[in-house]
Amino acid sequence: NVNDMEQRVREIKESMGEKLLILGHHYQKEEVYQFADFAGDSLELAQIAAKNRKAETIVFCGVHFMAETADILTEKDQVVILPDMRAGCSMADMANMEQTRRAWTELMHLFGDTIIPLTYVNSTADIKAFVGEHAGVTVTSSNAKKMVQWAFEQKERILFLPDQHLGRNTAYDLGIPLTQMAIWDPIGHKLEALCPLEDIKVILWKGHCSVHENFTLQNVHDIRKTDPEMNVIVHPECHHEVVAISDYAGSTKYIIDTINKADPGTAWAIGTEMNLVNRIKQNHPDKTILSLNPHMCPCLTMNRIDLPHLLWALENVEQGKITNQITVDKKTSHEAIRALERMLQHI
Ligand code: 13P
Ligand code: SF4
Repeated sequence: NVNDMEQRVREIKESMGEKLLILGHHYQKEEVYQFADFAGDSLELAQIAAKNRKAETIVFCGVHFMAETADILTEKDQVVILPDMRAGCSMADMANMEQTRRAWTELMHLFGDTIIPLTYVNSTADIKAFVGEHAGVTVTSSNAKKMVQWAFEQKERILFLPDQHLGRNTAYDLGIPLTQMAIWDPIGHKLEALCPLEDIKVILWKGHCSVHENFTLQNVHDIRKTDPEMNVIVHPECHHEVVAISDYAGSTKYIIDTINKADPGTAWAIGTEMNLVNRIKQNHPDKTILSLNPHMCPCLTMNRIDLPHLLWALENVEQGKITNQITVDKKTSHEAIRALERMLQHI
């Protein structure tokens, strides 16, 4: 039963002390989130992993690419565990190495050495390594603007992988017109452009988040019709048209901080993952909080990490068994770390 499972998790945490570190992303279910030693967005969790030298085992309650990043940023003898290997990310899976190499070759052919690659941290370690090897950088939703600005100081144009929406929203905020943004279609292996090649400043990989794509213009219109006072706040993984008519847009951390600072009595429709929206609602009984999409939007892969999987992983750790370890090979780590460190240095 749930109480017994929770009790066992507490006992294992207690007995292992600082040798065990549980990290939890904000989109995790409450049943596991409550046990996180540190909770955060993807940037905060990467920074905690990079700093922690005490934990022998890091149990990552999040998705696969986050656990890979933790493995890259920790020491060789620190073990990173993902409680359920099925906890992937559909966006990260939208860019593989073969597609990326092919795209790069074609883009070099079209633009010569005028492009720098950037990848959202929501990507596989291989893609981060590719970007690191080509003098590029990783970004998260909370530092994308700064890193895109940095990239434009290096080269004339950027390739942004794998989320077209974060790339488009960030570049637009920096004053780049939509017409100067082209899309790279990795399936059709072609560039979709609205202007002559020489005017293109941004090449967006045609990937998206299956959770944030569910927030629509119609949702915003409906909410505003029901309650014209409602503040609409969305994550930049949402469509540009949704971001453009929202009152506020920003990373997971930005959304949490903005609502923390808001006046009691205010009303907020939030365009992000369901578990986070529910947690914000619980933490703010003095405000009206709801999901921008009335059907709510769970991240199914994040939700694969549940209490039974967490307990199973911890019991194995307690018995000295390593299961579901996430390891990134040395060569990939070496290149990926260049892209990650360029980011960590500039924020
Ligand atoms: P952040 O934690 O960087 O806001 O990312 C959101 C997300 O989609 C994580 O998968
Ligand atoms: Fe991937 Fe979107 Fe889920 Fe984040 S919310 S893990 S980007 S599918």
